[in-house]
Amino acid sequence: MVSFLPLAASISFALPALGLPTGYPSVKIDGVSGQVDMPLFGIGTWEYNDTLAEAAVTTAFSLGYRHVDTAYIYENQVGVGRALKKSGVSRGDFFVTTKIFGGLNSSEAAKALDKCLEDLQLDYVDLMLLHFPASTSGTGGAALRKEEWLALEKWAKAGKAKAIGISHYCKRQVEDIQSVATLPIAVNQVQYHVGMGSAGDYATDFKIWVQSQGILFESFSPLCGPCGHTDHMKLINGRLVSKIGKAHNKTGSQVSLRWLVQQGIPVIPKSSVKEHQQENMDIFDFELTAEEMVTLTASKSPPVGGGPSPTDSGDCGVVQQIIV
Ligand SMILES: NC(=O)c1ccc[n+]([C@@H]2O[C@H](COP(=O)([O-])OP(=O)(O)OC[C@H]3O[C@@H](n4cnc5c(N)ncnc54)[C@H](OP(=O)(O)O)[C@@H]3O)[C@@H](O)[C@H]2O)c1
Repeated sequence: MVSFLPLAASISFALPALGLPTGYPSVKIDGVSGQVDMPLFGIGTWEYNDTLAEAAVTTAFSLGYRHVDTAYIYENQVGVGRALKKSGVSRGDFFVTTKIFGGLNSSEAAKALDKCLEDLQLDYVDLMLLHFPASTSGTGGAALRKEEWLALEKWAKAGKAKAIGISHYCKRQVEDIQSVATLPIAVNQVQYHVGMGSAGDYATDFKIWVQSQGILFESFSPLCGPCGHTDHMKLINGRLVSKIGKAHNKTGSQVSLRWLVQQGIPVIPKSSVKEHQQENMDIFDFELTAEEMVTLTASKSPPVGGGPSPTDSGDCGVVQQIIV
């Protein structure tokens, strides 16, 4: 059972219009037809096959999770769909985020979008994202980005998504979408975790800029999952997070996740271990002090992932290098 302590006063607690369990921590996002409550925590599924995804989501939902994050390219939507079905939770009471890849023209996008629903065995998703501002090989410029976004809008307007957004997008790519969008860009899902809070002007300014546009900034890899063993463990049992955790009778992972949700940033930590899943949701009954928040934000470790230099955000750095 999770108990929920209110976060910073700036975060408005949505008491659900769309059916999340009462008190499930959430933030408002701009949906296709008005605001939607987006859960502040959910279960990630990247790198799981259908079998692993089904098992992880089944366990998570038995603990009380009501949000799952998947994607077309994870090739596990069938497993996620099976877990959702067998959970017995009513459709209105859980939130599904999925993604189609970038670099698709209208008809390819329409096909991919429908395939997501088919695999998930759902009539609609709560949040559909364009996963990357280009194809896997990095091709696809502004024209294709706009075409794919408009195909997503058309699909969402047909009732197949409650909200739509993007992932891995940098400012100029967001601006491409803004130049044609007739629906709100609800969310930009990007890598963000302790260690990236002062990650150079570009990355920091980017977060502030995204938020200034009314787009919710969502964290992926909140425990630095893909960062390599040493860096990843810094956010789980590293010195800084463990020391702060000790003061609250919490673990390092809980401190890493709390630093994000306390800023109103949704997290989707992945775990196949029931005890870890439980730990990752027990982050709403304590509050980091202002001083602890500042210390965690100032941490430069683990460093920004993937970028060309420590002053560039991993995603933005890479994306700017490879994509026209
Ligand atoms: N938009 C995108 O392109 C994108 C990219 C990356 C990720 N994502 C999404 O974000 C989700 C999360 O990111 P991620 O999968 O990269 O990794 P993550 O959530 O940052 O870290 C996952 C790793 O941490 C371990 N872990 C989790 N909780 C723990 C705990 N309490 N104690 C100890 N170890 C713990 C897990 O191992 P155990 O299983 O052993 O617990 C797993 O190895 C993904 O699954 C995916 O849904 C999106």
